[in-house]
Amino acid sequence: MERRRHYVYPDPASLAGAFACEVSNFLMEVSDSGKPVHVALSGGSTPLSIFKQLKDTTLKEHWTFVRLYWVDERCVPPDHEESNYGNALKSMIQPLDLPGEHLHRIRGEEDPASEAARYGQMLSEQLPVERGVPVFDWIWLGMGEDGHTASIFPDQLHLWNSPESCAVATHPGTGQKRITLTGNVINAARRVSFLVTGEKKAPLLNEIIMKEGRYLEYPAFYVAPDSGNLEWFMDKDATSWL
Ligand code: 6PG
Repeated sequence: MERRRHYVYPDPASLAGAFACEVSNFLMEVSDSGKPVHVALSGGSTPLSIFKQLKDTTLKEHWTFVRLYWVDERCVPPDHEESNYGNALKSMIQPLDLPGEHLHRIRGEEDPASEAARYGQMLSEQLPVERGVPVFDWIWLGMGEDGHTASIFPDQLHLWNSPESCAVATHPGTGQKRITLTGNVINAARRVSFLVTGEKKAPLLNEIIMKEGRYLEYPAFYVAPDSGNLEWFMDKDATSWL
């Protein structure tokens, strides 16, 4: 049974606060269960604001059973300003002093094809595997103004259906190589949360949610977890065309 839920907030700050509460609730449930859970983080400005909230609202011990992964990574070193891992490290992981053995970054400094293969293999070793696909407990996604999600861009939509868990993508504007989870892993997750803010995303968000216009061209449209557990956290600006 599909349980798509749309949550709209006045602005990015209140969205970040609300989502951070969701995360805190999740952390409490996980601590009670005592079983490791696997969470994949996206890059971009929206997740970054949430990391900063979590730095201030959670404690190291709340994360004891959480293993962190990345949805995608730019092919840059971890200390590069564009590194998704590097930004999460500075804004949340280091301040909370989360243990290194609980972090599974994509090594953007390595050869892209080799690292995509390594990361996919690692996921199969670290996560539960169902029907041949590693299963995350929770994946946090953003959506670009062009309808990309993870690092799957409209001009490389075939990567969504890759049989591999990870693929090498190319940013259409800059040519920057990226490593990304593919659609089968994203849609196998037990819970997927989209975090979408800003008026520039309103036209595409409307097409995707209303299934109008060129929605079939947008990778974000294909996020439909088998669990049915898909949440859209949006701000008012992003939903202004709905
Ligand atoms: C990346 C992200 C990407 C991001 C979207 C939205 O590496 O850039 O994973 O998919 O989530 O571009 O980014 P904003 O939240 O900054 O709009």
